Amino acid sequence: MKVAVVGTGVIGASWATLFLAHGHDVVATDPAPGAEERLVAAVGDRVAFTDDPAAAVADADFVQENGPERLEVKHELLAVLDAATRPEVVIASSSSMLRPTDLARGAPRHPERVLVGHPFNPPHLVPLVEVVPGEGTSTGAVDAAMAFYRSVGRTPLLLRAELPGHLANRLQAALWREAYSLVARGVATVADVDTAITEGPGLRWAALGPITGQHLSGGAGGLAHVLEHLGPGTEALWDDLGTVTMTPELADRLVTQVHDAVGDADASDLLARRDAVITAALDARRFR
Ligand SMILES: NC(=O)c1ccc[n+]([C@@H]2O[C@H](COP(=O)([O-])OP(=O)(O)OC[C@H]3O[C@@H](n4cnc5c(N)ncnc54)[C@H](O)[C@@H]3O)[C@@H](O)[C@H]2O)c1
Repeated sequence: MKVAVVGTGVIGASWATLFLAHGHDVVATDPAPGAEERLVAAVGDRVAFTDDPAAAVADADFVQENGPERLEVKHELLAVLDAATRPEVVIASSSSMLRPTDLARGAPRHPERVLVGHPFNPPHLVPLVEVVPGEGTSTGAVDAAMAFYRSVGRTPLLLRAELPGHLANRLQAALWREAYSLVARGVATVADVDTAITEGPGLRWAALGPITGQHLSGGAGGLAHVLEHLGPGTEALWDDLGTVTMTPELADRLVTQVHDAVGDADASDLLARRDAVITAALDARRFR
């Protein structure tokens, strides 16, 4: 199978790694100077590269778009991809925040094959792909995308509604709001916030998720008991949660504190640490 990877930044390069590892031919495209060299350095020389997005998708069987997250840029790009890709081929956008119905307006020839296939960084390791159909997306395109992502070892989750940020980023945004608010109030540092998650609920979330995990906190009574016993306290807490504005001062404080938190570790150390833990967690699940 030939997969086109359009845009080869952080996410595109990781998708290319995944598709190559599953034996697919990958044709990549990106207009940035030096993009080809960077991609080959990251994924090896089995990847084909062209400057011309129309040529990249001309005989592709699946298109994964990973260009900049701006609707007008995506529209310009999707128009080229839509014109050059065979009509039955899915065009999946990695977009984190944009709605597929809005994206599909950029593909007037065959909008029914446009959908969001939203990964989590890095997509070659993290299994979740949120598949989000727009108002005009065909069931054939949805089925093909779900089957394709499964075939490359991902866990596609078909969303029931298109919402800004899809599902998982809305959950992350809820947590970031309170985390940034606590840092803004000076009651926790970035290191405190990260320790509170990595040494605490983050481990449970990776195993069971936040709600099934809570089901176990109720002993024999399960979630029903937790909701009755601890639910009122949680509800009272909701009224106490912060809202936050990302002022330049707060952004500076977060950046300074994240540098304090990582100390001497450089980006490659952090990447190695992250990927080792993700890989170990995935391996542990395989033995379950
Ligand atoms: N970074 C993340 O954690 C993450 C996670 C999931 C999804 N996404 C989504 O993936 C997409 C890409 O994000 P990223 O983080 O890889 O950004 P990035 O800035 O690392 O990469 C974007 C790439 O697009 C290229 N580009 C610019 N114009 C282009 C064009 N006309 N055609 C093709 N490529 C073009 C740029 O040169 C760059 O290499 C966005 O839609 C983003 O929302 C990002």
